[in-house]
Amino acid sequence: MQLYIDTANLDEIRRARDLGVLDGVTTNPSLIAKEGVDLTRRMEEICALVNGPVSAEVIATDFDGMMREGVRNAGIAPNIVVKLPCTEPGLRACKALSDQGIRTNMTLCFQPLQAWLVAKAGAFLVSPFIGRLDDVGQDGMDLIAQIRRVYDTYGFQTKLLAASIRHPKHMLECLLAGADVATVPYSVIAQLLKHPLTELGLEKFLADHRKAFG
Ligand code: E4P
Repeated sequence: MQLYIDTANLDEIRRARDLGVLDGVTTNPSLIAKEGVDLTRRMEEICALVNGPVSAEVIATDFDGMMREGVRNAGIAPNIVVKLPCTEPGLRACKALSDQGIRTNMTLCFQPLQAWLVAKAGAFLVSPFIGRLDDVGQDGMDLIAQIRRVYDTYGFQTKLLAASIRHPKHMLECLLAGADVATVPYSVIAQLLKHPLTELGLEKFLADHRKAFG
């Protein structure tokens, strides 16, 4: 499973990249707004830091606007992936952009039928949101498992990018469910290596070493 970071913050991207296991970046309009930066400028900065796919989401909600923004964003850098919502205009824009060779990430996916249609339209990535489904009392992980089954049954090439991940348990479940990619905030990445027995074990090793050799 590939690991993307879900942020528009450059320090977090640098820290994740320096771990040596980062495969890409996703952003969304809320994350860009949180940074208070211009999208184009920030995408240039992120693409200079990371070689893998970097998702830039359109703001337009109509087909023509999505196409204009999508083509413009795709021109920022070769690793930009145009992020579009799973709506009717989004599906049409996905098909049109994919036909032009522009990669898309279909976001705000909450049910397997959306994932099926965007795969038919040639999406490069689909982003089912686990945490937001859990928040409303549904099981986000069921959605991951169902999309995996649909894609495997029919041989779709669209990559299943598990999104809206809130904690390490989500990550483990994504690994077991066969997600192709997980996009995660830095706070969750930082928790992935943590285990109290690792910390305690290390303290004990060092204390024993100090006792023996000073
Ligand atoms: C995915 O690309 C989205 O940016 C993200 O994972 C949304 O997560 P949230 O539900 O925690 O905002």
